[in-house]
Amino acid sequence: MSEIRPNRRDVLERCIASGLLLGGVTVTQRQLLGFWEQAEAAAHKPTSAEVLGPFFRKGAPNMKTLRGAGDLGFPLQVVGKVLNTKGLLVEGATVDFWHADHAGRYDTKGYKYRTKVTPDGTGEYAVDTILPGHYEDRPAQHIHYLIAAPGHKTLVTQAYFATDPFFEGDPAKNWNKRGIAHNRELVLPVKLFEGPAAPRAEIRFDIVLERA
Ligand SMILES: [Fe+2]
Repeated sequence: MSEIRPNRRDVLERCIASGLLLGGVTVTQRQLLGFWEQAEAAAHKPTSAEVLGPFFRKGAPNMKTLRGAGDLGFPLQVVGKVLNTKGLLVEGATVDFWHADHAGRYDTKGYKYRTKVTPDGTGEYAVDTILPGHYEDRPAQHIHYLIAAPGHKTLVTQAYFATDPFFEGDPAKNWNKRGIAHNRELVLPVKLFEGPAAPRAEIRFDIVLERA
């Protein structure tokens, strides 16, 4: 049986049909496609920085699966690469990654929803987790990142979700709402995958580091 690989428009149409991208508000396919294209156009500019926040903990284990059986929250796969400004893979990168649980709470005593991964031989990192919840101080869903690599500036940043109801269905317009996200390129398109397993969302966050 041949594999059917949906193109970007197919995926978006499916997301819209499923309601995942709607977040309870009206958004047009044109807006979503436009936003996606803006994100792709920014591919080789250094990724912009964000604040570290108060919840970073050193020493997270190298875990590709953060989502436990029975965890509440929508399954989320986070994938990406660590690149330099020429678009080449950065050797020896580590990606520290932490976020709140489905209810917007951080694990401040242990390492739930925290990991420090190294990209594999293809340069790709992939983490299986859940969509973070909202919390009062920063009510946009986000994942914190700290990325380090030899010969490159360490980057502290965050990833946001274009489907977050916080952006009211128009992230291209509302990305800076309440001054939380500092760069629209950090508000990432979200794909929804259906299939034999449970549905999951996916974001791709390719990180571009500057040389030190
Ligand atoms: Fe946070």
